[in-house]
Amino acid sequence: MAIMQGGDGPVKQKAMEILVALGEIFNADKLIDIESTQISGVSYKTIGDAGLHWIESMLSEKVVIPSTLNPTGIDLRLWRQMGIAEEFARKQMQIIDVYSKLGVKTLCSCTPYLSGHSPKFKDHIAWSESSAVCYANSILGARTNREGGPSALASALIGKTANYGYHLDENRQPTMCIDLDVHLHEESDFSALGISIGKKVNNGVPYFTGIKNPSVDSLKSLAAALAASGGVALYHVESVTPESNSIKVGGIETISFTSDELVSSYDSLSTIQSGPVDLVTIGCPHASLSEMKKIATLVKGKKIAKNTKFWIFTSVGVKLMAERFGYLRDIVKAGGEVYTDCCMVVAPIEQLDFKTMAVNSGKAAVYSPSASNVEVVFGTTGRCVDIAVKGFA
Ligand code: F3S
Repeated sequence: MAIMQGGDGPVKQKAMEILVALGEIFNADKLIDIESTQISGVSYKTIGDAGLHWIESMLSEKVVIPSTLNPTGIDLRLWRQMGIAEEFARKQMQIIDVYSKLGVKTLCSCTPYLSGHSPKFKDHIAWSESSAVCYANSILGARTNREGGPSALASALIGKTANYGYHLDENRQPTMCIDLDVHLHEESDFSALGISIGKKVNNGVPYFTGIKNPSVDSLKSLAAALAASGGVALYHVESVTPESNSIKVGGIETISFTSDELVSSYDSLSTIQSGPVDLVTIGCPHASLSEMKKIATLVKGKKIAKNTKFWIFTSVGVKLMAERFGYLRDIVKAGGEVYTDCCMVVAPIEQLDFKTMAVNSGKAAVYSPSASNVEVVFGTTGRCVDIAVKGFA
């Protein structure tokens, strides 16, 4: 109450007002302690000067719990190599500087769980990147709503969030069962599945049956796609995800997902089917070490086409490990470029003269035509590498 009345200063008062307002909108019974936040609204492309000024207005305080950031618009070290304009980079550095002064760790990644920021089962957290929210809820069994950047920052400053939505057991029950009638192999298959099912389930909770031994990378792709095409923040996979055996699955609609639907989801994600491709990107969500290994294996001994860029986006930690294990060397030798702290959606791709982009991510395929003004080809990681080497689809 004292914070609401300004007893801890105007910044904490403003942060508390945001949390209380959200609690009132969603009928929360109380505020609860949280373990960490992951804050979106970092790229200068998405928040602009207005966002920068808003974050600056918080500068007299510091976050009180571990907090990390979503990707920025640039690789903080290699932005010149990307071709980013000086002015954009200067503004982006200013944003990072402000977050840093607020005490936020500048791990700028949508996969912080692969770089040491990994909540435990049943931890209450306040994360805002939609793919990371879906991963944390579904695969880690942590508990978070889809926060906006301002509410996540408010939570970071207060150390609490409002107790509603996915923090409560009753909202973690499945709303639709999806029985897979097709065997999925590639991460892009899981992406295509997520895009298709996200549209059907909207902001419900899908429960998948028939998915056998999925890799963590596949589950990461599924989380991002479900969150991008619907508003999914939590999914369950029978006998795979941590809450799948303790939930009630009876009495809900069941649909199947067939090989025809997989093909049609692939088709729907490309805006062009063939022709020259000037940019191939992988790493939405940010590539894991095993994805870096896969890419390195696929490009080893090959050369990226002269008029095509091959960009892989990952976190600083994964890039360091990829360097140590030799994957980075093989990718760079082939002509690929590995960037950290940013991604193909929130970097100012539209200012860099790219017209066509190949991706293996359903989320990137959905967002890039409008966010980056490019035509998109969607395919497997292998097809993306093939396109990068040939220069056309
Ligand atoms: Fe991550 Fe950017 Fe995709 S934030 S999930 S790589 S759009």
